[in-house]
Amino acid sequence: MNSSELTIAIVGATGAVGRVALDLLEERRHPAANIVAMASSRSAGKRLPYAGTELTVIEAKPDAFHGVDVAFISASSEVSKRLAPEAVKRGSLVIDDGSAFRMEDAVPLVVPEVNGADVAWHSGIISIPNCTTTPLVMVLDALRSISPITAVTVATYQAVTGTGAAADLELMTQSHAVLDDRDVVVDQYPHQIAFNVLPQVDDFLSNGYTKEEEKMLNESRKILHDPALRLASTCVRVPVRVSHSEAVTVEFQNPVSPGEARSVLDRAKGVIVVDDPHNSVYPMPLSAAGRDEVHVGRIREDIAHDNGLSLWLSCDNLRKGAALNALQILDEVLKRDCLKPAGLTARI
Ligand SMILES: NC(=O)c1ccc[n+]([C@@H]2O[C@H](COP(=O)([O-])OP(=O)(O)OC[C@H]3O[C@@H](n4cnc5c(N)ncnc54)[C@H](OP(=O)(O)O)[C@@H]3O)[C@@H](O)[C@H]2O)c1
Repeated sequence: MNSSELTIAIVGATGAVGRVALDLLEERRHPAANIVAMASSRSAGKRLPYAGTELTVIEAKPDAFHGVDVAFISASSEVSKRLAPEAVKRGSLVIDDGSAFRMEDAVPLVVPEVNGADVAWHSGIISIPNCTTTPLVMVLDALRSISPITAVTVATYQAVTGTGAAADLELMTQSHAVLDDRDVVVDQYPHQIAFNVLPQVDDFLSNGYTKEEEKMLNESRKILHDPALRLASTCVRVPVRVSHSEAVTVEFQNPVSPGEARSVLDRAKGVIVVDDPHNSVYPMPLSAAGRDEVHVGRIREDIAHDNGLSLWLSCDNLRKGAALNALQILDEVLKRDCLKPAGLTARI
């Protein structure tokens, strides 16, 4: 089946990821008649521009999934847990952006360039990873073709749209307030984000890491099929609107030269090497925003570790970090002809 023949629901169509998903469907010329825009009851009746016409938002509730072939859910974990099983019962394939199902054994967690074949064993739900995990595993997967990886250390620089549309508005509002010498209102984060950086993304665990840092480890292990992967991260929120960046140090079993790394990354699908530091050419959130690829640069020997390599990456968190990866998962499902899980044929 061709993807443009499918009826696709975007749950969270009014949100940061949902809006980008609609942009991507419009770029792919998906017919408006085959798109169902869903959000909370607050947004029911709201009209969203789409391909020269408008989509009317409906409330996401179980019966809204009748006739939906594929449901992209980009709302919250609570919404995913409540609605995904209902959508599956009604015959939809759910591609879920949130963390609700990512680590469940029966749910594939997929970055098509790395483990696309995993879509084949879905039982109705496929998850996409956290927006920091996706670009990292794409780079690690390419690099491990040169030598086995023994350890990875990462510091992230995460944009506010990773938290959603309300955090983006908060960054803008706080920035105006600071520049106008007015009081700053803090709502989305524990502290002011404008003109600041926060070494906290999500809640802290008893071991001193945050849930975001734990997700990067567990999700990378699942996607790379490497349960012994050693990976430590420090996740940091920065006052950037779109695109997450990461400073990555990879340790290998054998020596890996920057030239070898550049050459495999150059050939890796979905990755672009942007690496001419003497001319100040390197990945930046501003140049990665709106682009589909993971931008990688500052590739150099790590002088503090044996067989170490350091690099810097930037990636649009709303596109490859979320909506684009979700659409590419659908492409992979169609390519492998596994829209329906084995045994599920009838709608209720
Ligand atoms: N942002 C990223 O970079 C990123 C990357 C990867 C994954 N994700 C995941 O994607 C999901 C959405 O993130 P976001 O950044 O787009 O958030 P957001 O901007 O806050 O948007 C949330 C969306 O969820 C909808 N929603 C809220 N309550 C609902 C309900 N009860 N029923 C149906 N819809 C409801 C909202 O609709 P209303 O407008 O009606 O409230 C809105 O459309 C999250 O699970 C997030 O973890 C985000």
